Amino acid sequence: MLHASLSADAVTPLSPVHRRTFGSFVEHMGRCVHTGVYEPDHPTADADGFRGDVAALVRELGVTTVRYPGGNFVSGHRWEDGVGPKDRRPVRRDLAWHAIETNQFGLDEFVTWCRRSDIEPMMAVNLGTRGLQEALDLLEYANHPGGTHLSDLRAAHGHPDPHDIRMWCLGNEMDGPWQIGHLDARSYGRKAAQVARAMRMADRDLELVVCGSSNSSMPTFGTWEATVLEEAYDAVDHISLHAYYEEHEGDLAGFLGSVTDMDRFIDSVISTADAVGARLRERKRIQLSFDEWNVWYMSRHHAQAAARPTDDWPVAPRVIEDRYNVADAVVVGNMLISLLRHSDRVTAACQAQLVNVIAPIMTEPGGPAWRQTTFHPFALTAASAAGHVLHTDVDCPVQDTARYGEVPVVDAALTHDPEDGRAALFVVNRSTERPLTLRADLRDLAPEGVSEALTLTDDDVYATNTMDDPDRIVPRPNTTVRLDGGRLTVTLPPVSWTVLTLSTSRN
Ligand code: AHR
Repeated sequence: MLHASLSADAVTPLSPVHRRTFGSFVEHMGRCVHTGVYEPDHPTADADGFRGDVAALVRELGVTTVRYPGGNFVSGHRWEDGVGPKDRRPVRRDLAWHAIETNQFGLDEFVTWCRRSDIEPMMAVNLGTRGLQEALDLLEYANHPGGTHLSDLRAAHGHPDPHDIRMWCLGNEMDGPWQIGHLDARSYGRKAAQVARAMRMADRDLELVVCGSSNSSMPTFGTWEATVLEEAYDAVDHISLHAYYEEHEGDLAGFLGSVTDMDRFIDSVISTADAVGARLRERKRIQLSFDEWNVWYMSRHHAQAAARPTDDWPVAPRVIEDRYNVADAVVVGNMLISLLRHSDRVTAACQAQLVNVIAPIMTEPGGPAWRQTTFHPFALTAASAAGHVLHTDVDCPVQDTARYGEVPVVDAALTHDPEDGRAALFVVNRSTERPLTLRADLRDLAPEGVSEALTLTDDDVYATNTMDDPDRIVPRPNTTVRLDGGRLTVTLPPVSWTVLTLSTSRN
């Protein structure tokens, strides 16, 4: 048995819990849209063709924001193709994913779908094949109240009220050579700044996200952020981060330690942005939008993509439909812990993606929808984290990993809502073999009782949920938890994610 201790500072909260931390991502890729959120012939579909079973799971997941329509897809996308009478919408090739896009689901359907589930839409503009004029046209169509050509067109399409989309991404992964219209940092920074300034002339209160690096291993990482912000600092509010992790060559310990990289990535982007801000004598601080994060077995995707015939242009093919296991869910839970711990600067995040494509929700065309293992830590964190994130200190043993050297076996985040006194502790035991007893000193919070203690784990860390056995892996009550005089003790199995919710008398 390993031992760890945790202490909390309830006096000076780190930051509020941002609802946008629990965002997701719908891209026109594979089956995320078609036979994912949208399937007109499905038995649960509503009059708009939205799958009812998927919408119910999305609400249960607690998703607050959804980024759309890509991803790599956006860099070749013409937004006009996806609006207006469906029988007149053009069918196009999507070069990013080598597929056919029918455009039967577009901007108006997306916003309608979001609003029905109280989700905030977050839109990306195409800065790959397109630029300033098209971004302004899209903004006019989406947000202008009426009385202009494009806002009246929206009304004529059955949407008299403006969509009022607040958050806009200025392109996608423009640092990546794979991106259609990929640019060097200086050219992209100038283009993004121009687009941002003009978009603000239309609406001063937009929140604009400039592209950061596609991941922390990009050769341009660091200089990309610095150069782009030199050009666009005054015009934007957020810089994006993207990161995907997978288990490499049986290095389970390294995979479980993935957040080591995520933490460093976040800290480096903060330092870089602040250094540019200081040089420019800017008072504003750039916020971080971690708008693509997840576990993704990308190496399998590359192998499959290389094997695909190049004359094949399928509609909604099954691509990157990763099946997630227990270890994947623990890493996803840990990534949410990292996002919460960085809430002072990471004010928005999107798990990529929402349905079928590296997703917490899976569907069969004409058949059921079910929850992957990764659904559970997301849903429970979104439901339990509220109020403020508190500073925590953890003292614990370390574990050797091939990828990151020594990694602490425990990672945790604690939130407290002064409104109702509810606190939530999220904690992972990343040890591959040994259970751990955690002693948490929560006296500052004056805890009165444990309302819920749930742990996601299994003897088989590679066990998954399937269509036939959708609840093989679910969080189960942790009966080891004890609370005595403000000190909490709980045993955490190896490779596990746990949430503990408490009532406290501190407001
Ligand atoms: O989420 C899948 C893809 O990953 C996105 O299209 C792209 O932005 C990223 O590389």
